Amino acid sequence: MTTPIPNPPTVPFLGNVGQLDKEVSLLSHVLLARQYGEVYRLFFPGANFLVISSHALQSELSDEKRFRKFVAGALMEVRNGVGDGLFTAIVPGEENWSLAHRILMPAFSAVSIRGMFDDMYDIASQLALKWERFGPGYKIDAAADFTRLAFDTITLCAMSYRLNSFYQPELHPFIEAMGDFLTESGNRARRPGFVSAMMRSTTNKYWQDINVLMSLVDEIISERREHPLDKKDLLNVMLDGKDPVTKKSLPIENIRNNLLTFLIAGHETTSGMLTFIMYYLLKNPDSMQKLRDEIDTMIGDRPMVPDDVNKLPYLIAVMREALRLAPPAPFRGTTPLEDTTLKNGKYAVPKDQAILINVYACQRDPNVWGEDAEEFRPERMLDGGFEKAPPDAWQPFGFGVRACIGRPFAWQEAQMALILILQRFDFVLDDPSYTLSLKQTLTIKPDKFYVHATPRQGKS
Ligand code: HEM
Repeated sequence: MTTPIPNPPTVPFLGNVGQLDKEVSLLSHVLLARQYGEVYRLFFPGANFLVISSHALQSELSDEKRFRKFVAGALMEVRNGVGDGLFTAIVPGEENWSLAHRILMPAFSAVSIRGMFDDMYDIASQLALKWERFGPGYKIDAAADFTRLAFDTITLCAMSYRLNSFYQPELHPFIEAMGDFLTESGNRARRPGFVSAMMRSTTNKYWQDINVLMSLVDEIISERREHPLDKKDLLNVMLDGKDPVTKKSLPIENIRNNLLTFLIAGHETTSGMLTFIMYYLLKNPDSMQKLRDEIDTMIGDRPMVPDDVNKLPYLIAVMREALRLAPPAPFRGTTPLEDTTLKNGKYAVPKDQAILINVYACQRDPNVWGEDAEEFRPERMLDGGFEKAPPDAWQPFGFGVRACIGRPFAWQEAQMALILILQRFDFVLDDPSYTLSLKQTLTIKPDKFYVHATPRQGKS
């Protein structure tokens, strides 16, 4: 006998849509998990899905023999912009995913990412220069400046294309169009299709935003065609590369989709991670001091070099702990390959059932991380703590064959940015009483989070 999966009461036509906060649905899921437990079912118009909030279930679902990534809901809507790009490809089914995966994997190897050191350093230095010039009185919108950093880094390193965002007062129009596109993709997933169709101006704006996104993609491709470059950046790898297995090249439509995927996935999450780290460090001065001491001792005033990457244990612990508490991509979708049960026969789950893993909640499971699971404590990641955590307890980069291809890129970029800014600045909160509030599109970031940066004496 299986146990029914709980579901909150529904209302006609809309199901449970009204139970999710319109701005930050993640917080509603945290409350629903408290009330209904580690698995509950929600009904949306034309769809129902399970939501998982415990490590035990996350671990069970991280079995590629039984489950695969499920592209549904908001992610299905995101396909209106990025189609069969790596992130949103439907596998099995879309062959281009295998081609692109095999062609691109070597470009994300440790050696290739190390080769991007100078370009990453260039952009991080522009961030530092801006903060030096603006001085301590300038109220830094941390999420906006880390967005400039991550966006310019992905375009320079992956596409040899300079956006020069630090020299513009406003963020590139791509950023606003992308935020609106991702938010509206989420909204469309919650509405019946006919309602979206009736919302003419919202729908027009949605497609206009996609045009804004694609126009940058097309500009980058046409510039490359007009000015070919003898460099193995991601763009050339896609334009010239051949799949080692099938010897096929990537179709141009798929290259456009993947370029847009990299423009979005390559900066939105990394900027979120850096903003969360800044928040946690400023709220935990002991951790800030330990990190500062580590950087001062191991690197001091000299410019960092490629060999400094992955050498600072406390820095790595800070990054792991921030990604545990605040995974920038807080959900991932999965589905069973066959009819199955969860928890040794307790819950029946049919083939193709949509399941949403609330990674944010799972990574705060006290059964894994202890009673202080909600606290920022990088020390728990030190001295083998990270390695000793149970399997699948830390999944901010996803899981298995569909895990994040950009992880080594983000990992190096974030370390370099943090080392550089902590070498050069002291930071304070603009509002010392600020407590974390979230902004959610498909990803999460601290909202309205402002800081001030004072150049350290003799360090600039
Ligand atoms: C996939 C997180 C940085 C490109 C994913 C997934 C997660 C994730 C959770 C799996 C999503 C799923 O299962 O549905 C992150 C985080 C990052 C980051 C937290 C930074 C802190 C990057 C960067 C790039 C990138 C810098 C590109 C340069 C991708 C791509 C996929 C992906 C293309 C799809 C992989 C596939 O399915 O083949 N990422 N990501 N990500 N990420 Fe990242």
